[in-house]
Amino acid sequence: MISFRDWMAKAVEEYYRRSDFRRDFFTAPELDRSFGYALAEYIAGLLREFKEPVLLELGGGSGALAYDVLTYYKETEKEIYRNLRYYIYDFSPTLIKVQRERLKEFGNKVFWVESLVNLEGVVFSNEFFDCLPVHVIRDGKELFLQNDSELWRELEDDRLVEVLKRMGYENLSQTVEVCLECVDFLREVAAHLRRGYHIVIDYGYTTEELKKFPDGTMAGYKAHKFYPTPSEGMDITAHVNFSLLEEYGKDYGLESISLKSLRDFLMESSVFIKELERLSVSEEPEDVERLSRLKTMLVSMGGRFKVIVQRKLQEA
Ligand SMILES: C[S@@+](CC[C@H](N)C(=O)[O-])C[C@H]1O[C@@H](n2cnc3c(N)ncnc32)[C@H](O)[C@@H]1O
Repeated sequence: MISFRDWMAKAVEEYYRRSDFRRDFFTAPELDRSFGYALAEYIAGLLREFKEPVLLELGGGSGALAYDVLTYYKETEKEIYRNLRYYIYDFSPTLIKVQRERLKEFGNKVFWVESLVNLEGVVFSNEFFDCLPVHVIRDGKELFLQNDSELWRELEDDRLVEVLKRMGYENLSQTVEVCLECVDFLREVAAHLRRGYHIVIDYGYTTEELKKFPDGTMAGYKAHKFYPTPSEGMDITAHVNFSLLEEYGKDYGLESISLKSLRDFLMESSVFIKELERLSVSEEPEDVERLSRLKTMLVSMGGRFKVIVQRKLQEA
């Protein structure tokens, strides 16, 4: 017998460690460079207060986001680019190889780390927290798996009981996923961020939106198909609870200064809007294709994804 949480942790790690990296999903940076440019533009506004800015990306994937962020700074924010150091934290040797190849042209600006580094700057991620394993809970019981069948057992972990109580979820009659690793990562980020910002972009919900997902948010993706019941060999994810990030961030000195949908975040980006306007009047086949990808980003991802920005002030 194994808890769903342990099964998911193992399945996700095996999935990303596989040597035959397959594309079962597209992330926003893989759809179009405008996503990375919009994020880079936003981060530039935060980085101006740092003389030697450092960026740390959690979960670099194919390196697409790092490539676009670095390209944006190289081309349009030369002052930031000159002093910038870009760290990537990832546990997949396969993907690190892909990232190294993709980011070759940025030479010694990019570093790969096996654990978080102390820094002043910005820690950020896109579709990283949704990979972290969750405990699945319903009516005060936790989901375990035994030979393909489900077992529901009384809660044993005091941390789970504490989270359910603090978030006000104890008496909900629906499935709730609790990501203790998300809390642990927040603590780690805060411990390493001497001063700066933490940005999480991911699909997710707030406590108020929890009722939209009565059976939970767990899902698997394989070859671009969605499977409500995930199994091994798939990209397995659970939506991120942004209220949990806000609530537990406070314990570690991470104050949430903004939480909005990805659509709103992109529509407030001047670089994104300019590109959208340019593509809208172009008849070039490549531009027409890109416009449709930007629309996908705004329409189908835009409402489901959120962007949270947390600030860590320097400790006295
Ligand atoms: C869905 S991909 C997102 C990639 C990229 N951020 C993007 O937007 O295209 C998730 C990434 O996080 C990494 N990852 C997932 N769980 C991790 C963990 N617990 N520790 C370190 N890296 C992890 C995976 O190897 C992969 O690179």
